[in-house]
Amino acid sequence: MADTLDPDGSTTFEAEIDALLEVERFEPSEEFRRAASTTDESVYEEAERDWQGYWARRARELHWHEPFQTVLDDANPPFYRWFTDGRINVSYNCVDRHVEAGDGERVAYHWVGEEGESRTITYADLHRDVQRFANVLKGLGVGTGDVVGIFLPMIPEVVVAMLACARIGATHNVVFGGFAPSSVAERMEVSDAKVLVTVDGARRKGRTAPVKAAVDEVIDRAPSVQHVLVVRNAGVDCPMAQGRDLFYDEVAGTVEAECPAEPLDPETPLFILYSSGSTAKPKGILHTSGGYLTGVAATTKDVFDLKPETDVYWCTADVGWVTGHSYIVYGPLANGATSVMFEGAPDYPHKGIWWELVERFGVTIFYTAPTAIRACIKWGPEHPAKHDLSSLRLLGSVGEPINPKAWVWYYKVIGGERCPVVDTWWQTETGAVMISPLPGVTAAKPGSATRPIPGISAKLVDPDTGQEVLEGEGLLAIDRPWPSMLRTLYQDDERYVSTYWSRFGPRTYVAGDGARRDADGYFTIIGRIDDVINVSGHRLSTAEVESAIVAHDEVAEAAVVPEPHDLTGQAIVAFVTLTGQRQGDDALAVELREFVGARIGKLARPGRVVFTDDLPKTRSGKIMRRLLRDLAEGRELGDVTTLRDPSVVDDLRARVAAQKASS
Ligand code: WTA
Repeated sequence: MADTLDPDGSTTFEAEIDALLEVERFEPSEEFRRAASTTDESVYEEAERDWQGYWARRARELHWHEPFQTVLDDANPPFYRWFTDGRINVSYNCVDRHVEAGDGERVAYHWVGEEGESRTITYADLHRDVQRFANVLKGLGVGTGDVVGIFLPMIPEVVVAMLACARIGATHNVVFGGFAPSSVAERMEVSDAKVLVTVDGARRKGRTAPVKAAVDEVIDRAPSVQHVLVVRNAGVDCPMAQGRDLFYDEVAGTVEAECPAEPLDPETPLFILYSSGSTAKPKGILHTSGGYLTGVAATTKDVFDLKPETDVYWCTADVGWVTGHSYIVYGPLANGATSVMFEGAPDYPHKGIWWELVERFGVTIFYTAPTAIRACIKWGPEHPAKHDLSSLRLLGSVGEPINPKAWVWYYKVIGGERCPVVDTWWQTETGAVMISPLPGVTAAKPGSATRPIPGISAKLVDPDTGQEVLEGEGLLAIDRPWPSMLRTLYQDDERYVSTYWSRFGPRTYVAGDGARRDADGYFTIIGRIDDVINVSGHRLSTAEVESAIVAHDEVAEAAVVPEPHDLTGQAIVAFVTLTGQRQGDDALAVELREFVGARIGKLARPGRVVFTDDLPKTRSGKIMRRLLRDLAEGRELGDVTTLRDPSVVDDLRARVAAQKASS
């Protein structure tokens, strides 16, 4: 693409991007439609006519050890249950089924490590490894209903460990590898995890960091953990506590090779995934087996137009987030897909590594996040231009709103104006994609996730009147149950009801996002309406970050708000008042950032710290975050008359301006 630079320095490239920005609708190309599985708009209507029948049909595409008769049990909303009288095993569906169909030699993952080394893992390999891993867990006393913590980098063993849990009815609780050990301990403690699976050490951009030793320092806080199972990964020495800690490879040699998949109640909890909410305490989002697998299997097939025999699919997420659970592990495997799994960062060892891998494996479907696309824009089109990307036929986006400029850049530079872009809206809670184009059917509009997929019904509700908004802005709500919905918050039914189902009653799920709907019924997601900040597509709770900051000895009080950021979408700004022992200077700002990083994880570090003598508060003492947000975003301030001391705002405005000027 660099060759489109005009000699006089002006760029035709920029002009082409601008021209694409003028295009309102992108219809799927004829070439794409010719090969697509679904091209007929009637799929929406058909599903709508009998949505329970539709989901039953989709569920029956899976293997059931015993068929179900009941589709939906909605006797006790919002505690919905699906396919209750059937019996199913998720790991059987993801592995055994394909081996038994004669596809054991098909590649499940082309795995590529940080330093370029690769491993090819077939379905037969997974079948062998998962059974052994399951027997190891059983040997440690893990059974149906027990929770297994998984704190692993992007290595094939993470998939094996998850499927091993699914095989024996245990519930996995995966913690993203970028979280701090204390977050891991907290998540183990609140989920009563019996076993924690981790590694000796992990690699990142050419460096190796100890993991097991770091976990050791905090794991005592989770007394439920009886065993730590260590997968050897980076060749790092680690202390092993006698009786508690075991190396996976040593135990694996002592257990039986075979472990048949157990037919399980479809409502058996499959996993807990902790996500940020409005309070400092993370929410343990609980998913179960039959419904979840139905949702992720169907959407992987439809939204990505996946053809397992010919496609090479790559989702660049980390397995530690829901996108990894649903679209690296369960969705692709349930379909018998061949995926790329990449351990490393997008700019290591060089900024074109993703595109090198697309070319090397002939990737046809590529799914990533807007924050990554924006980073690629910054690095420049010359990196993808060095590689042959002509194998690509579909692109996807997830995790945060994609700005139209990033959309058209992705469409043009990566997709060669050939590939439909599916902007997929969903959440940890929804388990699977909810709003997205069907690539062979739905015309895309850059920035809009378009329409709810077949079988899903979404609407906008006016926050004040509770009336449905057909055109305009409102709260995004899902007005009937769907198979892959969360079932509850782990051991907290009350919070489940109050967070999602109290505003408009137990039949309307309130997603926590604001959105716009246009005359075509297309949804454009605006962003969170609660105290959740989305940094690079990762959810962080303001309360969680604030409580980490105030744990520092020098800090009296803290309030954090999001500000817009070119690369990460949003960044965290922290307003901090001090106890008075030390000056609020750059050194302390750096110290606070690292302090938060060590307590929660690097992602949660504030981009900016603004020290202040006071925070704007109402007369009843509540911090007015709305004002701080206006200040951070440089907007006109709204009503300040309810402030206890309006002069605080002038002082803050001056400080924010001074900081912006100096940065
Ligand atoms: C945001 C990630 C706009 C949204 C799968 C949602 C999006 C939150 C999109 C869930 C999208 C996700 N367009 N916003 N295509 N996808 N979001 O639980 O605010 O990590 O509520 O799940 O991300 O984040 P979560």
